[in-house]
Amino acid sequence: MKKSVIAIDGPAGAGKSTIAKMAAKKLNYIYIDTGAMYRGVAWLVLQKYQVPVNTAQVLSVIEDINIRLAYDDNGNMLIFVNEQDVSTAIRTPEVTALVSQVAAISEVRQKMVELQRKMAQDGSVLMDGRDIGTCVLPNADLKIYLTASADERANRRAKEMREKGYDVDVEEIKKDIIARDEADMQREVSPLKKADDAILLDTTKMTIDEVLQEIIRLANA
Ligand code: CDP
Ligand code: CDP
Repeated sequence: MKKSVIAIDGPAGAGKSTIAKMAAKKLNYIYIDTGAMYRGVAWLVLQKYQVPVNTAQVLSVIEDINIRLAYDDNGNMLIFVNEQDVSTAIRTPEVTALVSQVAAISEVRQKMVELQRKMAQDGSVLMDGRDIGTCVLPNADLKIYLTASADERANRRAKEMREKGYDVDVEEIKKDIIARDEADMQREVSPLKKADDAILLDTTKMTIDEVLQEIIRLANA
């Protein structure tokens, strides 16, 4: 039977968003990138304050934040924060450097999780993040923990950045990825962790297409 609610978690650069977006298209499901939501919060914090920021400042930002998701004609997810399209602005190194700190605050998580559960309530949804299988959607029909070695994940990110025209150092990217994974795994609230009933998929030696086929197979199993 086709699984109606699919949760994909895993560390940075494992291929979650690339593959979740493609799988959602194939299955005709809604794709929800929850990392973009935390990035949206971090973006707004940076609009209002200089870094470093404290918890009180982050809390003031989320008090009346409005996050809305939409999709363009190609199925790409767009994110609006207070009605401003920040889909590109949330991908800067500044936002990336702040996002894990913001995402560790329990009030921020409570607000995002509530929104995410509402978005998933009608099913036919594929959601990716760090705590989807363990916390947001514990009753998901299919849970996948997508991972790959840190070297492979850093190489993938570096290739992606170079294709976008950035001059990047793989070792720097690897350091950033490992630091963010550690912050995400060690935080007190909903740390990044494989759910007991999640299927572990190590994609170190897999192509995007192979991972996609496997997820579609599992979704239809
Ligand atoms: O795409 P990338 O792996 O760089 O990260 P992302 O999915 O955009 O997530 C950015 C950050 O948001 C993560 O490093 C986590 O700190 C946080 N996040 C989270 O705490 N919980 C989620 N469900 C999704 C993301
Ligand atoms: O969302 P997450 O941080 O888990 O990873 P992503 O942004 O979807 O993937 C990072 C990069 O790895 C992208 O440029 C993908 O095209 C690439 N990728 C890959 O080369 N091979 C895979 N099996 C999966 C992803």
